[in-house]
Amino acid sequence: MQLDLNGMTPKQFLEEYWQKKPLVIRQGFKHFEDLLSPEEMAGLACEDVVESRRVFKQNNEWQAEFGPFESYEELGETDWTLIVQALNNWVPEAENLLKCFDFIPRWRLDDVMVSYATPGGGVGPHIDLYDVFICQGSGRRRWRVGDLGPHKEFAAHPALLHTEAFEPIIDVELLPGDILYLPPGYPHDGVTLEPSMSFSVGYRTASAKDMVSALADHIIDKDLCNEQIADPDRSLSNNSGIVNNSDLERIKQQLFATLDDKLVSEFSGRYLTQSKCELDLPAECLGFQVLDITEQLKQQPLVKLGGLRTLYFEASVADGVLYINGEQFTLAADITANNEAFITLLCDTQELTVEDLSPFLNDELLVTQLTTWVNAGYWYFEEVE
Ligand code: SIN
Ligand code: CO
Repeated sequence: MQLDLNGMTPKQFLEEYWQKKPLVIRQGFKHFEDLLSPEEMAGLACEDVVESRRVFKQNNEWQAEFGPFESYEELGETDWTLIVQALNNWVPEAENLLKCFDFIPRWRLDDVMVSYATPGGGVGPHIDLYDVFICQGSGRRRWRVGDLGPHKEFAAHPALLHTEAFEPIIDVELLPGDILYLPPGYPHDGVTLEPSMSFSVGYRTASAKDMVSALADHIIDKDLCNEQIADPDRSLSNNSGIVNNSDLERIKQQLFATLDDKLVSEFSGRYLTQSKCELDLPAECLGFQVLDITEQLKQQPLVKLGGLRTLYFEASVADGVLYINGEQFTLAADITANNEAFITLLCDTQELTVEDLSPFLNDELLVTQLTTWVNAGYWYFEEVE
């Protein structure tokens, strides 16, 4: 699968469109093939661990229901949509689509969402808070996009936040392989013209409110930031009720001083690698030994579990620090120089071949660590012999 951004380079796209304005990319993918069939999708949507919903209109009223779903018969042949979130956690083929967007680092990614809609189906006009590439699979869908502006939002149903009718600045019919890129804030409405599949690569956002609240939990958990405000240089004040500007500055400094690179990366590395959705992890530790791993690698690569979030910081990778699934790890390689190369390989790629890993396979400590992760289900062999 190869992405063509209307002939633009990813750099041009980032400069001109990313987080700025919507873009219709005709034939972004030549010969696009659906990542799964509607039947497979319906199969996923009947599982408890998979997040799914369907949206339809009944007597002109919007309705939304959350899965798991067993039957679709009552919905008829028109005017409904089925949505499955985090397709990349369950369907390895979704990784082929995600790879095409790797010019945006994975920590910004949320998930791949798939929607199947019957003619007339859609989720109604709404505004999203995140960037999304809506990749049209089979079928056709008409998309209308309005401009940024003060659009009134209202709950068309407790689970559906809609926006009032808007004047379109884009009104297009997407065909298989076409892509609609939307930055946050642009109202949009997709109505299906014939049974249609679309695959949305969505990005995540975190408000300062969410981050500060999670940061406070981290500080409490790890019992950090216990330094008290100190003021040995206090100057004389004539007003006992006042917090003067230098005291306000002191209070701000006390807060700012906590936010150093170490705390921010140690907190946000954990925070950003937490999975919102269930991961397809084994119920208990698998029984691989180091030797099993090195032997298996000669036959097949290790694949990173779909939806698993891994990252490192430029500032701490040389110290052997990386984050996986909400946890911080500090590697202790036999040869320190190996840390950085090993971590970038783990986090930048989705598959580890024996060639990729060959510089590290004699490093006992690294291979032992990798074995622990394979036993946890973070990387896996497709065929276990
Ligand atoms: C959909 O694919 O049905 C809805 C996607 C969206 O508008 O965010
Ligand atoms: Co949307």
